[in-house]
Amino acid sequence: MAVNVRYMTLQRFKDKSVLISGGAGGLGSVIAATFITQGAKVGILDSNIDAINLILDKYKSTGSVVVGRQVDVRDSKLVDQSVAELAQSLGGVDVLVAAAGGSLGTPRDLEQITEIDLDLVLDVNVKGTFNCAKAVVPYMKKSGGGCIITFSSIGGRSASPVTGVAYAAAKAAILGLTRRLAKELGEFNIRVNSIAPGLFLTNRLEGMFSEMSESEQAEVINAIPLGRMPSLQECADPVLFLASSEASYITGIVLDVNGGRMMPN
Ligand SMILES: NC(=O)c1ccc[n+]([C@@H]2O[C@H](COP(=O)([O-])OP(=O)(O)OC[C@H]3O[C@@H](n4cnc5c(N)ncnc54)[C@H](O)[C@@H]3O)[C@@H](O)[C@H]2O)c1
Repeated sequence: MAVNVRYMTLQRFKDKSVLISGGAGGLGSVIAATFITQGAKVGILDSNIDAINLILDKYKSTGSVVVGRQVDVRDSKLVDQSVAELAQSLGGVDVLVAAAGGSLGTPRDLEQITEIDLDLVLDVNVKGTFNCAKAVVPYMKKSGGGCIITFSSIGGRSASPVTGVAYAAAKAAILGLTRRLAKELGEFNIRVNSIAPGLFLTNRLEGMFSEMSESEQAEVINAIPLGRMPSLQECADPVLFLASSEASYITGIVLDVNGGRMMPN
């Protein structure tokens, strides 16, 4: 997919401070790179310190402001402390993208899912999103507004064949959390929206997809009206749209980014 150069050189987020949980992951790192390209100062919160350091190295001596903290988003004290440090380095928090999450290697089939799996998936996805959102709100209130984007999934919007009940429950819960936050924070000019991606082949999922037989792969593609797998950029761009002033009257929604694979009523 050709990159829209004009769009990429827009400085829509010049001097804005953007925190991204899971910002060192497959989608998070592309979202981070796109915000940086568009002028933002970016703070990455992730449990994977090696992946954070790779990103920091990449931007060292480029003039872009990129900082990172290793954090487990399940730990509210650590999240509060890390957000405070990053807010100080970046001069506040204008945008939070809460992308840390996933099915985290837990099984898909009910009989194999343990209570530990359920706790892990709910805690990282739901509690982690809650912790990050709660931590940034005081900074957004102080500066007169902001924007939070949570990560749901097609698996939280419909019964996906790929992921199991723990993931489905967590990603559906994030939608309730998003709507309630949007209602509560609207009066402070803080918009809260969710993005629900379909299947995006990050490194982790590329392996799973390439191990499928040709007919299984064709089945996946045939279920997508647009008839192709997306680039990771095609998830990042809608996130930046929701974070931009072009979405200034949008709050409490979920944006499905799935090539038409799931069309809600
Ligand atoms: N890739 C897809 O097809 C897809 C589809 C729908 C939804 N999503 C959602 O998008 C988000 C990003 O997914 P991805 O595909 O980039 O996954 P990924 O595994 O590449 O990235 C997730 C990142 O979160 C970090 N993380 C995991 N547990 C954490 C914790 N406890 N504390 C802090 N950081 C933690 C990981 O280190 C990783 O960098 C997830 O919420 C996922 O559920 C992805």
